[in-house]
Amino acid sequence: MTVVEQREIGADRERRDGPAKVTGTASYAAEHPFAHPAYAHAVQATVARGTITAIDTRAAAAVAGVTTILTHQNAERLASDEDKELWVLQSPEVCFRGQFVAVVIADSAEAAREAAELVEIAYAEHDHDVVLRAGHPGFYAPEQVNPAYPTDTEDGDVEANLASATVTVDATYTTPAYHNNPMEPHTTVARWDPAAGHLTLHDSTQSVHQVRELIAPLFSLDLEQITVIAPHIGGGFGSKGRPHAHNVLACLAARAAPGRDVKLPLTRQMLFSVAGYRTPTVQRLRLGADPDGHLLALVHDVWEQTSRIKEFAEQTAVPSRLMYASQARRTTHRLAPLDVPVPSWMRAPGENPGMYAGECAMDELAIALGMDPIKLRIRNEPQADPESGKPFSTRNLVACLRRGAERFGWAGRDHAPSRKPGRGGRLAGTGVAASTYPVYRMPGSEAAIDVLPDGRFRVGIGAVDIGTGTWTALAQVAADALAVPLERVELQIGDTSLPHASVAGGSSGITTWGTAVYDAARNLRNRHGHRPDAGATATGTAGGNEAADHYAMHAFGAQFVAVDVDPDTGEITVPRALGIFAVGRIVNPRTARSQFLGGMTMGLSTALWEQSIMDPVTGHYINHDLAEYHVATCADIRDLEADWIEEDDPHVNPMGTKGIGEIGIVGTAAAVANAVHNATGIRVRDLPITPDKLLRARL
Ligand code: MOS
Repeated sequence: MTVVEQREIGADRERRDGPAKVTGTASYAAEHPFAHPAYAHAVQATVARGTITAIDTRAAAAVAGVTTILTHQNAERLASDEDKELWVLQSPEVCFRGQFVAVVIADSAEAAREAAELVEIAYAEHDHDVVLRAGHPGFYAPEQVNPAYPTDTEDGDVEANLASATVTVDATYTTPAYHNNPMEPHTTVARWDPAAGHLTLHDSTQSVHQVRELIAPLFSLDLEQITVIAPHIGGGFGSKGRPHAHNVLACLAARAAPGRDVKLPLTRQMLFSVAGYRTPTVQRLRLGADPDGHLLALVHDVWEQTSRIKEFAEQTAVPSRLMYASQARRTTHRLAPLDVPVPSWMRAPGENPGMYAGECAMDELAIALGMDPIKLRIRNEPQADPESGKPFSTRNLVACLRRGAERFGWAGRDHAPSRKPGRGGRLAGTGVAASTYPVYRMPGSEAAIDVLPDGRFRVGIGAVDIGTGTWTALAQVAADALAVPLERVELQIGDTSLPHASVAGGSSGITTWGTAVYDAARNLRNRHGHRPDAGATATGTAGGNEAADHYAMHAFGAQFVAVDVDPDTGEITVPRALGIFAVGRIVNPRTARSQFLGGMTMGLSTALWEQSIMDPVTGHYINHDLAEYHVATCADIRDLEADWIEEDDPHVNPMGTKGIGEIGIVGTAAAVANAVHNATGIRVRDLPITPDKLLRARL
């Protein structure tokens, strides 16, 4: 792999889409100028499990401006039921509360919404089961866990090693369901042109091509008959990584209202049942060590939920396979299928909940050993990937821990958990945790380069910028690939008319798309020389990375958190947090810092505020809005810093990048929990760490 001279990669560049966004001219899915729009509003099931016995649409149809009401009784039949999440309005069966059961199309948004509330649906209710609990009789082992890891691994005799260990930890941690809650609710605007036989979607998605590929077979359309457009996205965090039921509902509505742009924006409340979420988890960690802290055994057993209609198996124990050297190791995942909404990807699926539990357990082991938790981690630094035996392409966890310790002021910390007096009568403590995230390169990305008459280079790829900075960073990558200044690159993304691109997910965007752009630039040079004439074109692809056969490739980091705890109210504040990351080359320090700070903010939110509360009686996530589902606000975030160490990895890709979108959230929650324990002596093993849990433990 050639490492090309880097001028733009590493340069601090303003966002190219910044002016359009701050002046309000950047069009999000619902905002494109549509000539003759229609407005759709969805109707959701009000039972967790049951069968629709009757539908009365008379009152709804009488609302002025209503043109069409679709239910399972009159909606077009879909051609495939392979993905039951996408099998919308096809059956009277209700499999979770909030499932779409009808859609109203009208000439105004107000009429559609009013009429949707007037659709009368009667159900025969069946018993439902919506609560994940240890010992659930339905637990099974999935064939693999997301995206394609083995479900269980076992290496060595963990039970014998636990029995012979001098110090052991056996602790169970639980995490709640979390909902992604991007700023822009999911929205699809669909138009069916019958004469042309063409379906056009303006969609808020992390992958225009995947939307097209999953929608086409449902409607027996060829890929060429569908266009998906997504120039600007207001966040996704994985919830827009693949189409959900609303995409199909919008297409059904459009096919029933040909020639009109049918706008289906979801409400914030709807996102809590139809747009994915992070499964709750129960995790048992068992660690055994010798007196010096060398791990003899590491066991990470996970129980989590999936929906009855579709399996999603979060890979929660996977990070425990690579973090530390241990003589013996076991990891397992078990799923309980419940009558709940379909879980899906949420920023660092697997690594986020798994590293919360794993890094808290390491903290508990350090305390049991009377050892600095940083020293314990360094003592267990593996020489090669413990699972595959392959060397790491680069692994700078120790460097992150050391750099962070120095900058945070770790030296002199009192490692013994106790009530530690801090500012203003509060208790004060600090915590540390490690981060990791794999380097994914997704299959199937292509890029095209055209030399324009004015000598600029048009670079096209169907990637999307979900708010991460792709418009800017990918243009910087292209400039280096072409060895031209940034000003000479015109980037085109966010449209299925452009070459095929993989999802903006798994922190794989720049890594994958950039590889395709590099390949296209090389082909352009090979075919047309270093000074190609106007009209010259070339394409490139991002194939698999052969170096992955020889190296394990992961990003690493270290998170440091200080907390203040009010001893009377149990309120926790985080006056200071620092993340140091080793993620290969940084393409743009400005947008990269935003990614890390955003991830850490979401991690603090995971630790202290966010949780989706399931009502066992109704099967409803009851706190389904931003008034009651508490995400971190600016006022919650004080002194938050992110930085990185220089890392030169020649194996990952031509840019040397590892991906940065997700690692910032990984480990933050553990660092908070460890800091709270350090400050109070109370170990809360159940996220989020709300004041009541500290008070109940007699703070
Ligand atoms: Mo990310 S959860 O892979 O979009």
